[in-house]
Amino acid sequence: MPEVLTKPIPVRAGNSKDSGTSADKPGAGKPLISSGRIARRVRQLGRQISETYADIDTPLVIVVILKGATVFAADLLRSLSIPAELEFVRASSYHGGTSSSGRLQLAHMVDGPLVGRHVLLVEDIVDSGLTVNTIARRIRRLGPASLRIAALLDRPARRVVEVKIDFCGFVIPDRFVIGYGLDYAGLYRELPHIYSLT
Ligand code: IMP
Ligand code: MG
Repeated sequence: MPEVLTKPIPVRAGNSKDSGTSADKPGAGKPLISSGRIARRVRQLGRQISETYADIDTPLVIVVILKGATVFAADLLRSLSIPAELEFVRASSYHGGTSSSGRLQLAHMVDGPLVGRHVLLVEDIVDSGLTVNTIARRIRRLGPASLRIAALLDRPARRVVEVKIDFCGFVIPDRFVIGYGLDYAGLYRELPHIYSLT
């Protein structure tokens, strides 16, 4: 079960002892989810995914949605105890703002064939659901043996299309978040913790 975050989020509270290292950006405040908490949850997801796919006879194909999911995917990949290949898809539905433009462009599709393969689509955050839903539809057309979805974060408040997230890290409140791969206008992906911007 994903961890559900319901507590109010301090935005500019200054560094707490949870986050208070010099590596934190000044003014970023207390993290919504600390790097340690992320790491523990990602390891759990890795074990769960490895168990789910324990009996497949081809390597799992991890399809990472660029760019936000790269950090999560890199950690998730290394927490697997089963063989896995890596593919990337590129979508963009956000244009430097904090809400979806509603239009989705697919700039890059996977390189290798997916027919008959077990595919795990890896996303950083499911918001409206349009990104993951559109990409999942496109992948299904390529004839995979199975398709599941892993998302580090689930923000159900603004969901537009129904999405079944098979492996979910955290359910978060309706706040825009940055860090651990997630950006605002291309920035903040390098932060080890996840912060709320709104
Ligand atoms: P959706 O298509 O509305 O589900 O939006 C999902 C995509 O928007 C993700 O791939 C993220 O890249 C981006 N996104 C949504 N919410 C956030 C956020 O709070 N911070 C950073 N990126 C976000
Ligand atoms: Mg994204």
